[in-house]
This record gives sequence, structure tokens and C-alpha cells, in this order.
Amino acid sequence: MKDSYGRTIDYLRFSVTDLCNLHCLYCMPKNGVKKKRHEDILRIEEIETIARAAASLGISKIRITGGEPLVRKGIEEIVRRVSALPGIQEVCLTTNGHFLQEKAEALAEAGLSRVNISLDALDASVYAKITGGGDLFKALSGIEAAIQAGLTPIKINCVLMKGVNEGEIERLAGLSEHAEVEVRFLELMPIATTSTWSQDHFLTANEAISKVPGNRASIDTIEPISHSFCSQCNRIRVTADGWLRPCLHSETEILLRGLSYDKLLEALKMGIRLKPQKHLLNRALPLIHTQDSRPMYAIGG
Ligand code: 5AD
Ligand code: SF4
Repeated sequence: MKDSYGRTIDYLRFSVTDLCNLHCLYCMPKNGVKKKRHEDILRIEEIETIARAAASLGISKIRITGGEPLVRKGIEEIVRRVSALPGIQEVCLTTNGHFLQEKAEALAEAGLSRVNISLDALDASVYAKITGGGDLFKALSGIEAAIQAGLTPIKINCVLMKGVNEGEIERLAGLSEHAEVEVRFLELMPIATTSTWSQDHFLTANEAISKVPGNRASIDTIEPISHSFCSQCNRIRVTADGWLRPCLHSETEILLRGLSYDKLLEALKMGIRLKPQKHLLNRALPLIHTQDSRPMYAIGG
């Protein structure tokens, strides 16, 4: 389906949990997250129905996100159901990699095509500091397991933070020497937790790349700040508690729960049409609300 600006929307990012085993500096608030009630999180059947409806409107690629999607019970079943839907050509997942060693093979068997892995440092103590206690060895073993399971090409996401992981850039870039691995440097986005950070932490992708000597063929950059890519945006998002989020940077959300299939289709179409708009449509159903700064862990990037 095309949005009001002629962009084809064929990509859905589906958050399946707000929870995470890590607490990345730029993602989780310092004083923790209020855990949602079990019944507030979409059930597997609801995820499948929303994905089915989205596919019928032209979504062909789904990325499963979190929080950390691999902490969600039944993640393999979610992948299996979603990848079997008519029209869905590719199901990918973004993860911190800690549980890939156990799960990569089962996920590949369930129909997962590829994984993106967040990895912001290759020094164990810098990594632990950024992730609030993450285990670098586990993340690296996870990458290895994903390669073994054929979840390739693997994209490594590195969020750039001046004064935090600048010194890691060259070594991270080196991972791209592996034939199955692409390294991507992401400019830090001011969202919730990071919106109060000083500008001093911001490092442009250009600055990062200038630190990388030699072959940069499989290094990419995501530059929402220096070069906005909204005009090519092809995506919508669904949150773990069932809200359609037409744009990461707009707080407009449309509730997808508790609707008949027809109303669900209507709500999805409305969301796609709403994509570039800043203000709310004042209609009783589907429900639209403005959410106060939903943090990254609750959306999935
Ligand atoms: N700015 C840029 N990237 C972010 N991510 C999470 N929070 C931010 C932020 N504030 C990244 C994660 C993950 C992807 C889903 O988004 O590192 O790789
Ligand atoms: Fe967890 Fe990913 Fe957020 Fe880090 S960025 S705390 S791994 S959800």
C-alpha cells in the first residue's frame, strides 16, 4: 500500500516484548522500566493476525524487535507463524545476541531469514559499561552461532557515542572483513533517555568512517541526524502492547487490539495514511492517542 506521499509501505517492525536482559545506556532509563502486565502484551495469535492483515495490505518484510525479542517465550513460534503468512517474503530479527547461541538454529528452522545484532564495543569492559552488564563473549558467540545457522548476511549495529565508544570504531569496522558480516554505524538519536543527553555525545557517521582505514566495502551508515531518510521511509511499527506507530518520531499511535478483522485492516490503512502527518485525526475508532515519549526499548528502533 502507498501512503499519502506516494511511498510504498512494505516493511513492518514488530516489537514482541518491552523486556530486555540488558540495559543499554542509550535505551533503558536509569531507574528501570515498569514491567507491563502479561495481559497488556500481544498474544501470539494477535501478533499473527496483525501480521496477516498487514501482509494483505502489501507488507512483505517483517522485522521482529523488542526490547530483546529472544527473551519472549515462544519466539520461535512467532517466527514460524509470521513467516508462513501469505505475502511475507522475509522475516528478520534485531537482537543483542546473548541468546543466539541457544536459539539461532531453531529460529532458522522456524523460517527466520537474517539477524541484526547490536554490538557497540569489542572491549569487554566498554561493552559491559554500555550494555549495563552485558557479556561480550556471549554476544560474539551469538554472532558465530547465527553465521553457523545461516542467518546471513549478518548486520552489526553500532550506535556512535562520542566519549564512550569512539575508540572501538576501528576494531568494530574490522568485523566486516568476515564475508557474512556487514557493519553499520548508527548516529545516536535523541529519543526519551537520550533526549536529555548533551550534544557532546553526538558523533556523525562521517566522523566515524573517517577513523576506519582501508577497505570500507561492507561498512554502512545510518544517518537519521545528518541525512534524514524520511522521503524513502517504507516502514510502520507495532509496539508490544498492540499500538501501530506510523512514525518513530511522531507520538501518534493507533490501537490494533480488540478489533474485528475488518476494523484492523481499517486501522492499519489509517496508520499508513497518517504516516507523515503531525497532528491527530479526531475520530472515535480506531483509537488514537499521543504517547509521552515511549522509549526505544518499547519500540524496537
Ligand atoms: N539511537 C540510535 N540507535 C539506537 N538503538 C537503540 N536506541 C538508539 C538510539 N537512541 C539501536 C540499537 C539497536 C537498534 C534497534 O536501534 O542499538 O541496534
Ligand atoms: Fe536491550 Fe537492545 Fe535496549 Fe540494549 S538497545 S537495552 S539490548 S533493547
